[in-house]
Amino acid sequence: MTPHEKADPMSDRDAAHDPTPGSDPASLQAAPDGPSDVSAFANRLRKNLAHWRKWARRRGITCFRIYGRDVPQFPFAIDWFETASPRAEIHLHVQEIDTGWRRSDADYTAWLVAVCDAICEVCGVRAEQLHLKRRERQRGTSQYEKLDGEEAEVFVVEEAGLRFEVNFDAYLDTGLFLDHRPMRAMVAETLAARAKQGAGTRFLNLFAYTGSFTVHAARAGSEGSTTVDLSNTYQAWTARNLALNGIDSGRHLLVAADALAWLESAVAARERFDVIVLDPPSFSNSKKMQGVLDVQRDHVRMVGQCHSLLADGGELFFSTNLRSFRIDAPLVDECSLREITHQSVPEDFRRPSGAGPHRAWKALRRG
Ligand SMILES: C[S@@+](CC[C@H](N)C(=O)[O-])C[C@H]1O[C@@H](n2cnc3c(N)ncnc32)[C@H](O)[C@@H]1O
Repeated sequence: MTPHEKADPMSDRDAAHDPTPGSDPASLQAAPDGPSDVSAFANRLRKNLAHWRKWARRRGITCFRIYGRDVPQFPFAIDWFETASPRAEIHLHVQEIDTGWRRSDADYTAWLVAVCDAICEVCGVRAEQLHLKRRERQRGTSQYEKLDGEEAEVFVVEEAGLRFEVNFDAYLDTGLFLDHRPMRAMVAETLAARAKQGAGTRFLNLFAYTGSFTVHAARAGSEGSTTVDLSNTYQAWTARNLALNGIDSGRHLLVAADALAWLESAVAARERFDVIVLDPPSFSNSKKMQGVLDVQRDHVRMVGQCHSLLADGGELFFSTNLRSFRIDAPLVDECSLREITHQSVPEDFRRPSGAGPHRAWKALRRG
């Protein structure tokens, strides 16, 4: 994939989708609000910001969600990123949630500009620090929609003492999925505990994106890892993330391949890992793979294969963003899967509606 391709393979990854029907033109509804009446939104954002900044400061967290469609008429997900020195700044990643609402172009643009102006005012940032991702590209808010592709600026953010490269403008997503923050910590704790006990620490990261789980695993004491992702762009990004953290790449193998094909050959070769992360996209049909990946259809096979790659006492973390996902009941028994969504979804991503950004399970292979 080139940096110009905005059709990110994991564009289903985050909360920028309306779980209710709406994108079907037949079901389009008139937008509920006037074009620029944003005071309810601004008030709610101000309250949220005070709460989540305090929450984050207490926990040493510098990148977190400050708004997740808390006012339904303002369908946005807003993430706060504090970038590291030498460019220590605040950047806001603002994703418009696709509702399919009908609005004239002029009304829509005026409303969106008013929303972005309110966000800048409440959060105390300049227009260039707000990075807007719209579901449909139209002109008119150019001050908030930045450069394309390779011209987009790269920043570094920190999490748990580790450093990660992020890019707010080139893709739909930034390079670091904030909803997986607790799961990264769980994987790191698991590996650190195993290293302390002298247990195996071979780590496998499937559908790895920019390798943030691998960085955590390596720094927690993994003796070696394999990181699989179809995209050369993301594997190069993973290599930069490893280097940013001073991790010796010799023991950490990056494989640019179709994870489904890779799994087949790893099972045939009887490879073994001690900790595995399996986080497939809901759907993938890249030209670089055979057929399509459909997580609902294919999870039984993928989880089963990962389970058979686990060494005795090994642990598997499986996560999916598909909102309608239903885990196969026999698989739960066969692989002793335990749902850990209540631990893996961070507080800043929990909403009263209950619709979380992902669901996750853990399996332990008994010796
Ligand atoms: C949901 S993201 C993974 C997020 C990642 N685990 C994290 O938390 O940072 C999905 C990733 O799967 C990759 N991908 C899509 N189809 C693939 C395939 N058939 N084989 C390997 N990787 C694939 C995409 O390039 C993307 O990086």
